[in-house]
Parts: sequence; C-alpha cells; structure tokens
Amino acid sequence: MTAAPPADRIVELGHVVEAAAALRTAVRLGLLEQLGRGPATADEVAVRCGTAPGATGLLLEALEALGVLRRDDGRYAVTVMTRWVGTLEAGWARLDDVVRTDRPIVAADTPAGAAELYPEVVPFLTRLFAPAARQAAERLAPVDGEVLDVGAGAAPWSLALAAADPRARITALDLPDVLPVTRRAVSQAGMDDRFRLVPGDVFTADLPEEAYGLVLLANVCHLFDADTNRALLRRLRRVLRPGGTLAVVDALPSEDPDERRLLALYALGLRLRTVAGAVYPLASYSAWTEEAGLGPVDAVPLSRTPPLALLTCTAPAT
Ligand SMILES: C[S@@+](CC[C@H](N)C(=O)[O-])C[C@H]1O[C@@H](n2cnc3c(N)ncnc32)[C@H](O)[C@@H]1O
Repeated sequence: MTAAPPADRIVELGHVVEAAAALRTAVRLGLLEQLGRGPATADEVAVRCGTAPGATGLLLEALEALGVLRRDDGRYAVTVMTRWVGTLEAGWARLDDVVRTDRPIVAADTPAGAAELYPEVVPFLTRLFAPAARQAAERLAPVDGEVLDVGAGAAPWSLALAAADPRARITALDLPDVLPVTRRAVSQAGMDDRFRLVPGDVFTADLPEEAYGLVLLANVCHLFDADTNRALLRRLRRVLRPGGTLAVVDALPSEDPDERRLLALYALGLRLRTVAGAVYPLASYSAWTEEAGLGPVDAVPLSRTPPLALLTCTAPAT
C-alpha cells in the first residue's frame, strides 16, 4: 500500500481542481465575458447569462476570493488577473487536442505563432519576473559595453538592468508585432532614452558583430528544440565583443518537490504553445555554449516561483 498523502497535499490538490473548475465554468457560461462589459451584481449576471442566481453568486464570490474578480459595493468587476487567467484558460482548455495530436495550439517557436501569443502575454511576464529580474540585474551590473536583450518582450530583465546600472544602454530586439509592447513597457518605465528598439527575427536579423558587452536571452531557449538553440547561441556568440557575457535566464529541471510540480506543468504548457520547446538541463546549456566557443557556464538560482536560474558565460577575451 502506498503511504497516505499528507493533509496539505489533499487540500492543495482539491483546491487546484476546484479553482480550475470554477474558472472554466465562469468562462463557459459567459460570466467573465458579461462582466467584461461592465461591473454587475450577481443577480444581474445571472439574468444576463441565464444562470441560477444562488449558485452564480457563490461562483462569483469564489472567483473574487481567488483574486480573479474584484467586488465593489456588491458589484463584481474584471481585473488585470481576469484577463491573465482567461488567456491561460483558453489555451489549457484545448489540452485534450494537444495530448491527442502532439501538436501545439499555437506555435510560439515560429515568428507567426509568437506574434499571435506574446503581445498579450509578455506584460504579465513582467509582473511575474520583476523580483527575479532585480536579483539578476544586481549580479550583472555594472555592464561593460552595450546590452542586447534578445526576445525582450516587455523587457523585464533589461529594464531592471537599466535601473541597476544608470550607464547601461540597451538594444531590445523582438518580432515586429511584439515590439510595440516592448516600447510601451520602456516608456512606462521612463527609460526611452536608454533603449533602442529593433524589430526583427533573431535568426535572420542583421546584427552587428562583436558589438555587445552583454547579451540577455531570457525565457527564449525553452521555446526551441536543441538544434535551434545550438544555432542561436552560435549566432549570439558572434555579436558578443571579446570578454563579453551571455546571460541566459530560463527554467532548469529540479528535484525539489514544489519546483517539480511547477516545472512538470510548465513543460506540459510548453507543448500547448511550441512544437518542440522543453525545459533543458544545465548540461544542455553547457554543451551549446561550449560548442559556440563560450567559456564555462556559471548557474545561480534566481527564484523558486517561477523556478528560474541565471546562467552566465563569457566570450574569450581575444
Ligand atoms: C517567453 S517570451 C520572454 C520575453 C522576455 N524575455 C521575458 O523574459 O519576459 C519569449 C519572447 O521571445 C520573442 N521571440 C520569439 N521568437 C523570436 C524570434 N525568432 N526573434 C525575436 N524574438 C523572438 C517573443 O516574441 C517573446 O517576446
């Protein structure tokens, strides 16, 4: 007989199932869409959605308690979290298709798929990564030379670096459809004069050789298969000036039970949005960087939720 699960796991797993069901039900019955048109009481939502007032009230209260909705003076309203979980739910609701076919619902490892997914998603990543980005910036600052942020998104890592190192000058590269989000994030941070924004595909963009003292590659490698990452790191090695640093931020596998749970679902989520993305072990990064002619990788953990590490290595000095 297997050992009885600890009480907190029973509660936690039950909570996961209940919260997911509450959210899915609110999406399927149109409750969130209805509230997206404006704040309303539970009774008003029930009338408009054709649902029972009592259970509708309990469902909305549960979503408010989960932080998905806001309630002011008895009226429920959507929040920034409603959009985030709505986006997640829309993807995860199609997990059965992905498990049947092994094909993603959107291929974020292609420029077209990334352009479809990331303008909506990257502003949320910024909130998620902010504490880890500050830590990474403390380790990377001061930077000797220009910085290239590859697949910058809403630029959480380079914005933190710009804040930590007032002399840092950053080139942020992302796909043309995502770059307006980068521009907005940089402007909101009051950092326009520190950034140059370059629209392009990192695999084909015309990047200057030996131009950057630091290349940031944050949460990009997990999108691609191993051969693509190998080619990417070889390409980025060429834009690093001698002695420059490549800094990769990404998830690494972990044996810690809490991190394993997050990582296993993260890896499953990657299958929803990439053809062959994966959580790669440190050994893969070490092999790719060595093949690219970079020095040994130094890895430091940055955060447990989400589980992220900062991997750095340098280009030979001459
Ligand atoms: C998971 S997001 C990470 C964004 C940001 N670095 C962060 O950590 O929040 C991946 C980013 O890579 C960008 N990207 C994907 N493929 C790309 C390509 N071929 N060229 C340039 N950027 C790309 C996406 O548009 C997206 O902004």
